Amino acid sequence: MECCTGQHLEEEAMSDWEERYKTGDMPWEKGAPHPELVEFLKKHPIHGNVLVPGCGYGHDVRAIASTADEVVGLDIAPSAVAGARQHAAVGGERYVVGDLFALPRQMRGAFDWVFEHTCFCAIPVAKREAYVAAVAEVLKPGDRLFAIFYVNPDMEPGESGPPFGCPPEELDEYFRSDFQLLSEWTPTRTHKGRDNRELCRILQRK
Ligand SMILES: C[S@@+](CC[C@H](N)C(=O)[O-])C[C@H]1O[C@@H](n2cnc3c(N)ncnc32)[C@H](O)[C@@H]1O
Repeated sequence: MECCTGQHLEEEAMSDWEERYKTGDMPWEKGAPHPELVEFLKKHPIHGNVLVPGCGYGHDVRAIASTADEVVGLDIAPSAVAGARQHAAVGGERYVVGDLFALPRQMRGAFDWVFEHTCFCAIPVAKREAYVAAVAEVLKPGDRLFAIFYVNPDMEPGESGPPFGCPPEELDEYFRSDFQLLSEWTPTRTHKGRDNRELCRILQRK
């Protein structure tokens, strides 16, 4: 079918997210960074260069910018990036419109950390291997991914995502070849309605 070229699907995916920002249909937008990230940073400040894929309005980006050297918030939706740029700068953060699955060459191995929060659950399930490959590509061996995975979203019976949940055993499968699991825990602080639905993991690039 002529409409189903890869490029067309990518454009369609981008415009869906863009449309949601334009119409204000953003149930994920909480107006604040993830509370577990804020607590984590108090005890374990993140240093170096950090990529936050699917950054939305950039609340997590700015929290990380309070300890890191440079933080790049990446989002496919231009309106998300425009919204993020409205906020006062905290440190060395910047925002880029771009597709995690078509990253520019200069991002290869350019980051010390990647922070994941509601991007992995937002992409189509069929793109999860590509997500792991993209995150692995921007890191160097020994660098780390700090992820707050939305493993079990609160969905109505029969309702489909996004968000698309992913049980821990499946996360193991997706990340096993490129990452070593260093630690995991259930966040003790989270946004309303997400209690016991998320899993934090620190994964090290092999
Ligand atoms: C559920 S929202 C979460 C936004 C933000 N992390 C937050 O918690 O507020 C998912 C975000 O991922 C972005 N996104 C989806 N696919 C993407 C892709 N291929 N590359 C970059 N960003 C993408 C969307 O535009 C959207 O802003």
